Amino acid sequence: MIVTVTMNPAIDKTVEIGKFEYSGLNRIKSSISDAGGKGINVSKTIKHLGGQTTATGLMGGNSGKIIENAMRELDIPSDFVWVEGETRTNMKVLDADGNVTELNEPGPVIQKEAVDTLLEKLEKLAGPDTFFVLAGSIPAGVDSGIYGTIIERVKKKGAKVFLDADGELFTKALAAGPDYIKPNRFELEQYFSFEGHATDLELVEMGRKMQAKGIGTVAVSLGGEGALFVLEDTALKAPGLKVEAHSTVGAGDAMVAALSYGIDSGFDIQKCIRLGMATSAGAVTTIGTKPPTKELVEELMKQVELIEL
Ligand SMILES: Nc1ncnc2c1ncn2[C@@H]1O[C@H](COP(=O)(O)OP(=O)(O)OP(=O)(O)O)[C@@H](O)[C@H]1O
Ligand SMILES: [Mg+2]
Repeated sequence: MIVTVTMNPAIDKTVEIGKFEYSGLNRIKSSISDAGGKGINVSKTIKHLGGQTTATGLMGGNSGKIIENAMRELDIPSDFVWVEGETRTNMKVLDADGNVTELNEPGPVIQKEAVDTLLEKLEKLAGPDTFFVLAGSIPAGVDSGIYGTIIERVKKKGAKVFLDADGELFTKALAAGPDYIKPNRFELEQYFSFEGHATDLELVEMGRKMQAKGIGTVAVSLGGEGALFVLEDTALKAPGLKVEAHSTVGAGDAMVAALSYGIDSGFDIQKCIRLGMATSAGAVTTIGTKPPTKELVEELMKQVELIEL
């Protein structure tokens, strides 16, 4: 079973207006709201691919209820720890000039008790058949070492962990030895304080250094250029698939979702990679963070090329 953990969920609201009136009245022409946050997006994509997941994490207030309802409608079981305060609403304002103005709420400040309750919940869910996906940022009040703590606790019970985070959150979690990570080029170069644009082989070298520290598979996503996969005994490059890009937001989440689904289903690693490449390329053809259809994913899987490095 795949359990996604979203510490900092959000309602992603996209509104369309006419010309932007600074300091004036802006009437909204259309408005779309989606349940968001990286872990939740991963759950939605897994569901689309035909997999099963439970979404957990921290949730608050009326917007939390809206997200919970949206998950119910998508038939995704959710099991959140409820906190005081209101889960974030992040608004993207699209104006007639094509500009996007973002207005993001801060979200609730989390009390230690809520984090402890979440840790207990995750430990209860953990077992040899549980695959955790830890993805995205954390809200105020939560220690940046939280992902490391979660990894340690659930790995003790035999669970596997896929980590997708950046900055301090990423760095601190690595010591706990996640089984899978998916930094993008920038996150990996930043971690190694690498100056300039690393070559494929330099990126593989960085992946190997991470494995030497106890991390399992390292997937390095390269946006439109595709991705690299540093496996136990080999490294593979999958060049980016040629698709019409509409929105690259959430491409990384789609990759994480598809890899997790493939691994948890017991597919061989090459099939997991094909699925990851196809699902993430499919995701950029849709607007916002909407997952691609299964048909498109199947079509794109045939186009994935794997090159040994
Ligand atoms: N323009 C594109 N064309 C084709 N595929 C793409 C494109 N952009 C992204 N992808 C696919 O999506 C994967 C993940 O993209 P990217 O490296 O941008 O992730 P990310 O930076 O982690 O994104 P996120 O903002 O979701 O965290 C890539 O490895 C690639 O397979
Ligand atoms: Mg990312």
